[in-house]
Amino acid sequence: MKRMDLPGYALGYSEIEYERLIRQAERYGPVTERLFRRAGIASSQHVLDVGSGVGDVSMLLARIVGSGGEVVGIERDARSVALARARAAEAGLHNVTFTESDVNHVPSNRQYDAVVGRFILQFLPDPTDVLRSLSRLVRAHGIVAFQEISWAPMLKLVEHLPLYSTCASLCHETMLRAGANTDSGLNLHRVFMGAGLRAPTSYLEMLLGDDADLARWIYDILLSLRPQIAQNGLSLEKLGDLDTLRERLHAEVLASKGVISSPGLVGAWSNV
Ligand SMILES: C[S@@+](CC[C@H](N)C(=O)[O-])C[C@H]1O[C@@H](n2cnc3c(N)ncnc32)[C@H](O)[C@@H]1O
Repeated sequence: MKRMDLPGYALGYSEIEYERLIRQAERYGPVTERLFRRAGIASSQHVLDVGSGVGDVSMLLARIVGSGGEVVGIERDARSVALARARAAEAGLHNVTFTESDVNHVPSNRQYDAVVGRFILQFLPDPTDVLRSLSRLVRAHGIVAFQEISWAPMLKLVEHLPLYSTCASLCHETMLRAGANTDSGLNLHRVFMGAGLRAPTSYLEMLLGDDADLARWIYDILLSLRPQIAQNGLSLEKLGDLDTLRERLHAEVLASKGVISSPGLVGAWSNV
């Protein structure tokens, strides 16, 4: 399948997006690690990470499970897989491999102690169906743990910032038009139950602050979404000069003397 043929993925597969994923992983890594440890992922386990992107979640897991364990990342974009492999090799991680595959066609010839994913279910037309199939790959009493997003509380918290909220609303609208579920985190309980799993333990975390790094998240998303924004005939005009947008977004936050938030990060886990 040619890269351009991958359907319905709003964020696309540009260098800009790969770099955004790496920056995002640095920011949310500790939240994701807390989820995995609370869920019971530990040394020597064998873990499947679906929608592994450029490899950050798989590499985080590889460090948790250690040399006695193993992590397999599944990702449908060949360039992401190649980048993830190169990054893992550079990090000296020998217990993680990456396979190019759609999450609907994961090889089912083995069992795992845990199946996990971060920020993937929001892009799937039928996440319940996918979770049902994936949970068959988990051994008895094993773990299913997912982290998904919720834009709703973030959009509410930035309403008083005209530039920031205009930027966030434009990105949100673009994601919706591309078919993404921007509140997939709030749907996790229903998806787990629908997939025949036990009611998950779940919680929501949001990072708050006035720092440039936090303000950059929405700017980064906007840059990745630019082709989709154009395709949808949406206008960037209200945001002014994009070359100075990042600084202006942050300046607006500082001038408000308040905080902005990350999107909500919902973690949910359950045992098979
Ligand atoms: C927002 S990225 C998250 C990547 C990674 N989990 C992380 O948190 O850094 C979502 C990833 O899911 C992948 N993806 C989306 N739909 C997929 C599918 N049907 N099968 C496999 N991968 C998929 C995308 O290609 C993308 O790399």
